[in-house]
Amino acid sequence: MGYVDLHCHLLPNLDDGSPSMAASLELARDAVADGVSHALVTPHHLNRRYVNHKETVMQATSYFQAALNEAGIDLTVFPGQEVHLSNKILAALDQDDILFADEGGRYMLLELPSNEVPHYTKSMIYQLQSRGITPVIVHPERNNELVAHPERLADLLELGCLSQITASSYLGTFGKDVERAARLMVNAGQGTVMASDAHVMEKRDYELGAAMRRLAKDLGRKVAGDYQQNAKYILNGDPVRMTWEPIKQKKRFWLF
Ligand SMILES: [Fe+2]
Repeated sequence: MGYVDLHCHLLPNLDDGSPSMAASLELARDAVADGVSHALVTPHHLNRRYVNHKETVMQATSYFQAALNEAGIDLTVFPGQEVHLSNKILAALDQDDILFADEGGRYMLLELPSNEVPHYTKSMIYQLQSRGITPVIVHPERNNELVAHPERLADLLELGCLSQITASSYLGTFGKDVERAARLMVNAGQGTVMASDAHVMEKRDYELGAAMRRLAKDLGRKVAGDYQQNAKYILNGDPVRMTWEPIKQKKRFWLF
């Protein structure tokens, strides 16, 4: 079994992920070459630009799986959504229009706006938790407020949220500032899983495998293994015990 990618925009024509089936199949080939064997496909939902209803995503995912099989691409896909923080979430849940990271409806990929943590975030998290849902905050390292005030991510984790760090952030593809933020969060033990958040983009490779190898090099194979195990737990709807605490960096001895 290869890597489990919990966040990617592989489905064609639903959001800003991929403009065509051909482009999606190409990106899926990149995913497999990168070492990914299972991917939760997560088009945007309830953000300002995109609404992708559960039924639409489920149909698109089975259509995409058939195309993958036909093309001989060894990738298993599961339907998901990247749910934007919105006051429409509870109504969407009531209407059974939300896809989770797992089939049992335990983990929801939750995206905050990139500039801030809105005042009603905690109250929404509480309401989700009261329905038995654990939010997984996606790419906190790309949220300006969480980067400026790391203790606010700590608050969300204390409430019981999990977090997903984006592979390209950790590798520096989005620039030094995002890389620094991702590394600080990972080093502080604030990351639960790493995912690609892959879109079809020129000059951007599928980078989950590279990020996992970098993580293993930086913090040891045990930490990288935990990240991958957590991705499997989330996909299976199994409990993730996040005892987040600073990760001990490898000691480097200098020779005199
Ligand atoms: Fe995304």
